Amino acid sequence: MKNEDIPSAKHHAAWPRDARQHALRIAEAVERTWSHAYASDHAHIPVSTVAVLCLLQPPEPDSLSTRELFNSVSSAEFAHTCRATWRAVITAQPDLIPNLYPMLAWLWNNPENTVVDAVKAVADTAVNTGLLTLSHGDRNHQVDLLGPLLALLRSDSARTGRGQIYTPACVAEFMAALVTPEENSSFCEPAAGTGEMLRAAAEAMRHNGKDPRTVTWVAGDIDELAVACLAVNSLLWNLGPNTIFGVGNTLTEDWVTRAVRQRNECTTIAQDIIQAQIALAALTYP
Ligand SMILES: C[S@@+](CC[C@H](N)C(=O)[O-])C[C@H]1O[C@@H](n2cnc3c(N)ncnc32)[C@H](O)[C@@H]1O
Repeated sequence: MKNEDIPSAKHHAAWPRDARQHALRIAEAVERTWSHAYASDHAHIPVSTVAVLCLLQPPEPDSLSTRELFNSVSSAEFAHTCRATWRAVITAQPDLIPNLYPMLAWLWNNPENTVVDAVKAVADTAVNTGLLTLSHGDRNHQVDLLGPLLALLRSDSARTGRGQIYTPACVAEFMAALVTPEENSSFCEPAAGTGEMLRAAAEAMRHNGKDPRTVTWVAGDIDELAVACLAVNSLLWNLGPNTIFGVGNTLTEDWVTRAVRQRNECTTIAQDIIQAQIALAALTYP
């Protein structure tokens, strides 16, 4: 097949033009695939899989050949890609390790073959419904790709019990337009979910020619998986390095102090490991 014959995903007739409708369509397809392939809850696994695909950012996300390449790798190879992706992410931003841990720990915990196969089925579904197109570059600033999936994967009772009904994007954008953060300010959201309010605030700043990477984003939620999604979203939405994300009951706990302490501890440990690796390499140099 010649390059010009490859249909562009951007014009795939079956996919909604509206990014949020498309994100919801992908989330519904992924949820269906996960519940067929692995009849158990474990929402962190499909959410983690979709997060990896969002983070990968292949150079030609719209091409059929990219989708075929993803579909052709084995389950084990895809699991390896997931581990390599998380390793690259936490090497670049070790401060996010406490937040991302619920999304990545299972991969190093000898997942059964049935899980690894179900993960590959989820990845194929996400790729074939256009996730790579929607998650690419600045396009993902328009949409939360993880929030709708997390909401669908939670049972109705769990969702209602936690009050996990996320603010519609248009409402978040309206509020962000009314109160747009200034550069070098801080923005605090104590019940952040997967971060729609942060996304809307960052977009409003960009719209006004301001740089959201200068803001200190402080956000928490009682749901550790929502905070893990928030941490991934902070990378996808390019919120910058000043993020303090915490898990806890933000009504009763000093979650900010704890989040800052965990962030600092992880950064220090990562620096110590790098120093130790360099020292070991120097000591064992032939
Ligand atoms: C209505 S959602 C709003 C999420 C987000 N702010 C948005 O606009 O989409 C409420 C969020 O608050 C979280 N939550 C509920 N009670 C909480 C508590 N006591 N402490 C921290 N988070 C809480 C839920 O887990 C849920 O993610």
